[in-house]
Amino acid sequence: MKTLPLEEGVEIPVLGLGTWQLKGETAQSAVEKALEVGYRLIDTADAYGNHKEVALAIKNSGIKRVDLFLTTKIWQSDLNRENVISAGNRFLNELEVDYIDLLLIHWPNKEINLEETLEAMNELKRKGIIRSIGVSNFTINHLKDSLNAKVRITNNQVEIHPTLSQIDLRNFCKENNIIVTAYSPIAQGQDLHLPLIQNLAAKYNKPPSHVILNWIIQSGMVAIPRSSNIEHIVDNFRTLDWELEKQDVDEIDNLNSNNRLINPSFSEFDH
Ligand SMILES: NC(=O)c1ccc[n+]([C@@H]2O[C@H](COP(=O)([O-])OP(=O)(O)OC[C@H]3O[C@@H](n4cnc5c(N)ncnc54)[C@H](OP(=O)(O)O)[C@@H]3O)[C@@H](O)[C@H]2O)c1
Repeated sequence: MKTLPLEEGVEIPVLGLGTWQLKGETAQSAVEKALEVGYRLIDTADAYGNHKEVALAIKNSGIKRVDLFLTTKIWQSDLNRENVISAGNRFLNELEVDYIDLLLIHWPNKEINLEETLEAMNELKRKGIIRSIGVSNFTINHLKDSLNAKVRITNNQVEIHPTLSQIDLRNFCKENNIIVTAYSPIAQGQDLHLPLIQNLAAKYNKPPSHVILNWIIQSGMVAIPRSSNIEHIVDNFRTLDWELEKQDVDEIDNLNSNNRLINPSFSEFDH
């Protein structure tokens, strides 16, 4: 599968399976199916409560650790040094692996010193517990704060779909060698119904989900659609079989209406 370089020796696949809200057997069977079909990036988080099911699915797949890419995230109340270190070790036990490819700060938290968090993550990296350090739900200003901390951030996982295209944030990330992962890439189904997306689906004779996922991947980002439906898991993977024309990628960029779906009370999007 095509990958993007996070840093030397760490390549992230451009398409992965999101697992938010997938629990128990549903989580396990979705991850098993995805691995069987060819997905190699699995996106989980401490807060999703499915590390153990992800571990079981990986074990059942028989796929070698080196061929997988695991992203997980530390919750925003666990960002002091002590909690970061203990979370890193706990995640290894829960996921039954001896390293995590990418560890993210799930949400920024202005109550906890960012430098302290990033330095603790760097400690996990030096010990080989994680391979790369990233963030999620960070604004340009949060990223500027992280750059001041002098710990290399390689990834920002943020909500991106046609009605929330976040061009300024994407440009800032590009200028600073930060790969963007688009979460909620199909806007939880909403953006599949946009007239332009429907027209492009008809033009290429492909599903609307492919049009959106290709827009993300061809724009140099990683897409992590979530599904527990086997047909959707298989179908989303087939996105990689074809590409949009450049003019169509540009047209989708213009659909932005700042339609943010994920905005919990503790978010810091005004930072
Ligand atoms: N870092 C963060 O704070 C954060 C926040 C939100 C999400 N995320 C990550 O991003 C992942 C994806 O985001 P998301 O779960 O919010 O939304 P999403 O991937 O945009 O949408 C998921 C929904 O779309 C449906 N779906 C998937 N493929 C489809 C297809 N081909 N055709 C029609 N419907 C389809 C799924 O239903 P079926 O199960 O029926 O297919 C599910 O209801 C999450 O699972 C999580 O890993 C991260």
